[in-house]
Amino acid sequence: MRRILHHELGEPARVLRVEDGPSTSLGPDQVRVRLSYAPIHPGDLLGIMGSPAFGTPPTIASDGRVPGFEGAGVVSEVGANVDPALGLKQGLRVAFFPASGAWSDEAVVPASSVVSLPDSIPDEVAAQMMINTLTALTVIRAAHDSLPPDGRAGVVTLLTGAGSAVGRLIGKVLTERGVKVIRLVRSEASAAKLTEILPGAPVFATEVAGWKGRVRAAAEGAKIHVAIDSVGGRLLGEVADLLAEGTGTVINFGSLGGETSDIRLFPPRSLTLKGVVLDSWMQQPPEQRRADIALARRLAQEGGTLFEVAERYTPSRIADAVTHVSQAGRTGVVLIDFSND
Ligand SMILES: NC(=O)c1ccc[n+]([C@@H]2O[C@H](COP(=O)([O-])OP(=O)(O)OC[C@H]3O[C@@H](n4cnc5c(N)ncnc54)[C@H](OP(=O)(O)O)[C@@H]3O)[C@@H](O)[C@H]2O)c1
Repeated sequence: MRRILHHELGEPARVLRVEDGPSTSLGPDQVRVRLSYAPIHPGDLLGIMGSPAFGTPPTIASDGRVPGFEGAGVVSEVGANVDPALGLKQGLRVAFFPASGAWSDEAVVPASSVVSLPDSIPDEVAAQMMINTLTALTVIRAAHDSLPPDGRAGVVTLLTGAGSAVGRLIGKVLTERGVKVIRLVRSEASAAKLTEILPGAPVFATEVAGWKGRVRAAAEGAKIHVAIDSVGGRLLGEVADLLAEGTGTVINFGSLGGETSDIRLFPPRSLTLKGVVLDSWMQQPPEQRRADIALARRLAQEGGTLFEVAERYTPSRIADAVTHVSQAGRTGVVLIDFSND
């Protein structure tokens, strides 16, 4: 079994190693998956670095820690107590989430975390369809809950980082649900690209002077009660400035900008800042989680620009792979390719 692991927190390109070792034993309620691809999410890198943006730093066992929480591949072994009604059998193509230690050519995962795949979802899409979609849905739920009772019709929402993988999904789902989304990206080049691949909702570049005036014009007089932000820093304060006084909420789920956030406007305008983390999705009732996974599968079947691949890297090129994730101008998810190992 080949796995990517680290023995200390630090810069991912420096601390990550590839190691070969014996297979992990299989528990009665688990399945073994032979992986084809595992994604590298920005949050995976925050965990490896022990960044405060990850939350409590991950625990590193004496024999190291394998990052990664999702992936795709083929079932190679099924635990003795796994319910036959789940239909999990050797050779079945699956995606899985949540499971720790996904950056490995073989992962032992809870049977309850495994989803079977139709032929219409390729492995490159399946490997990245769960975390990003479920984050998008968790964020949208928090945004909906933050609306004042009299502000739930004709909703206008601001969305920063709109070209990111999660941002695209949030924009898509909100638009499908009849919400007017005003999308924000950094540069004019990103705005042009997003408009081309996912047309419809307006897109403005925050590097271009006067963008706040354009947002106000696009809102057409409607109060903006909620902004969804994954950039943070100065932009969080700028976005708050566009919200309705007293009822406005910023839902923040990331800090792509890497800066400390500016919340000085929040007290004088009685605004709310709500942080959201994907972990809370596990507290959703089972029927809600099933519905969310069904939506992830439906969007994955549409594929294309919602689940773009930036590049595939073999495990031995993990340093190049993590460097690529942090590169400016990247679009799409960087995948670790275990398919030819
Ligand atoms: N809270 C949670 O549970 C949770 C779960 C998943 C993800 N997240 C967070 O959500 C965020 C988005 O994740 P993702 O996987 O969708 O990201 P991603 O696809 O890797 O994001 C790439 C995009 O982010 C934009 N970007 C990068 N640096 C930026 C900056 N300094 N200012 C503004 N935009 C910047 C770039 O867009 P342009 O160059 O086009 O502007 C780039 O296209 C990350 O912060 C991630 O950690 C949180």
